[in-house]
Amino acid sequence: MSLEQAKQVAAYRAVDEYVKNNSIFGVGSGSTVVYAVQRLAERVETENLRVTCIPTSFQAKQLIIKHNLILGELETNPEIDVTIDGADEVDFQMTLIKGGGGCLLQEKIVAACSKTLIVIADYTKDSKKLGDQYKKGIPIEVIPMAYVPIKNKVISMFGGQIKLRNAIAKAGPVVTDNGNFILDWIFSDQDLDWEVVNKSIKMIPGVVETGLFVRMCKKAYFGQPEGTVVERN
Ligand code: A5P
Repeated sequence: MSLEQAKQVAAYRAVDEYVKNNSIFGVGSGSTVVYAVQRLAERVETENLRVTCIPTSFQAKQLIIKHNLILGELETNPEIDVTIDGADEVDFQMTLIKGGGGCLLQEKIVAACSKTLIVIADYTKDSKKLGDQYKKGIPIEVIPMAYVPIKNKVISMFGGQIKLRNAIAKAGPVVTDNGNFILDWIFSDQDLDWEVVNKSIKMIPGVVETGLFVRMCKKAYFGQPEGTVVERN
């Protein structure tokens, strides 16, 4: 079984267990969420469900439109029943690293408006401690003019190294859906208190959001190499 199939089984299981008729559904971002939206579209069609979808990114919005699902927004639907999203890493306390795809800000806004946040992932995202599996660090979305002072402050507070995320198909930095830059903080201490870290980094002027999701996720589904799904809550 491939990694893609592991993502698919996790996504299908979560959509089958959590999406209900007449509900407001937050659509996460990334490659695993593609399978969740596929499954949602199948269920909407076969079960004649009415589900309003709130996107967490440009990619999520495009997925909703492509599958002819109902596109909503927080302005008219500020309370979301359930959001299903991917993650770059999930530790034993259900703390998440998100933002590998650069969508952390809208993902966190939508998650914070959701009664329930569910993560879907393949087995490589399942970790005892943050940093065991995912080596690209914690993304921090920042206002462009402030990226150097923010980088220096985070290193002086918590150590590690920081890289400004560069674009692949363009010379220069990645620019997020919100017009900001992303710093990837490769932390060196795996035993930090992530709640304190998250709050401290967010207090630095110019930081828009961090990819640390602490005490937000209710349940995670990890697709396994042999096609089963491991659940954590
Ligand atoms: C997007 O910015 C991220 O937070 C994704 O949710 C995360 O990177 C998981 O993506 P995959 O499903 O592609 O692994």
